[in-house]
Amino acid sequence: MLSLSKTAAALAVILPLAFAGTAPTCTNPQLSCSGSSTNTCCFNTPGGLFQQVQFWDTDPVTGPDTSWTIHGLWPNNCDGTYSENCDKTRAYTNITQLLTAAGQTSTLSYMKSYWLSDDESDEAFWDHEWETHGTCISTLKPSCYTGYTPGEEAVDFFVKVVSLFKTLPTYTWLANAGITPSSSKTYSLSAMNSALEKAFGAPVILLCDSSTVYEIYYAFDVMGSLQSGTFVPATNTGSKTNCPSTVKYPPK
Ligand SMILES: *[C@@H]1O[C@H](CO)[C@@H](O)[C@H](O)[C@H]1NC(C)=O
Repeated sequence: MLSLSKTAAALAVILPLAFAGTAPTCTNPQLSCSGSSTNTCCFNTPGGLFQQVQFWDTDPVTGPDTSWTIHGLWPNNCDGTYSENCDKTRAYTNITQLLTAAGQTSTLSYMKSYWLSDDESDEAFWDHEWETHGTCISTLKPSCYTGYTPGEEAVDFFVKVVSLFKTLPTYTWLANAGITPSSSKTYSLSAMNSALEKAFGAPVILLCDSSTVYEIYYAFDVMGSLQSGTFVPATNTGSKTNCPSTVKYPPK
C-alpha cells in the first residue's frame, strides 16, 4: 500500500496533467516549409521556419558566464517575412503561474537562469515573446486541443523552447573550436560561423552591435506539430548578418 506522502507526491505529478487537454497526435506529419498539408494543427503554416534566437549579453551582463541565453523562438513564413501578435485574446501575463500550475517548475527555474531580460521583468519578457511570436504558431491554436484549458498551449511553447535551447550550446560549440570570449582578441566571423555550422548541421546567423557579437539565429523546419514534431536544422532563409568580417566576442 502507498504511504500517504507517496500518494500525495503521485497526485502532484498526475493532477496538473489531468486538468490539461490533449494536443493532437500527428500521423504522417509533413515537414514545414517544404511539405504540404491542410491540417494546420500538425503542419506549421504559414509560420513554418522557426528561429531559435539566443543572446550573448555583456552590457549589462545577463546569465551565466559560460552560456548564451534565450531570446525566443520565432516562426517566419519560410522566407524571412513574419507575422507578429496574432491573437490578442491570448496575450497572457501569467506565464509563471501557467508553468507552475502545469507542474513545469523545472522549466520555470531553468528560464530564471537562462531566459532573462536586460531591461524589464523576466515575466514581462516572457509575456512579450509569447504574445509576439508564440500566438502566431498554427499548431498551438486552442482549437487543436481536445479539452483545451486556457494557457496550456503557452506551456507547450515554453517547454519546447527550453528543451530546444538545451540542444544548442553555442558557448561550448565555440569553445570546442578554440573560440572563447576575450577582451583583447578578435575572431574572424567565418571561423565562428563554420564552427557553429559544423556543430549544428546548418548555417547560423550571428548578429553584431557594431563589431561585437551579441545574438545568434538557429533555424529549423518542423516535421509535425511544435509540441511533438521533430525539429530539423535548416537555413535561415531571408535573414542576414550585420557583422563585419572581424568581430569581438567579449567576456561577460
Ligand atoms: C492565466 O491567464 C489566463 C488569461 O487571463 C486565464 O484564463 C488562466 O486561467 C490563467 N491561468 C493561471 C494558471 O493563472
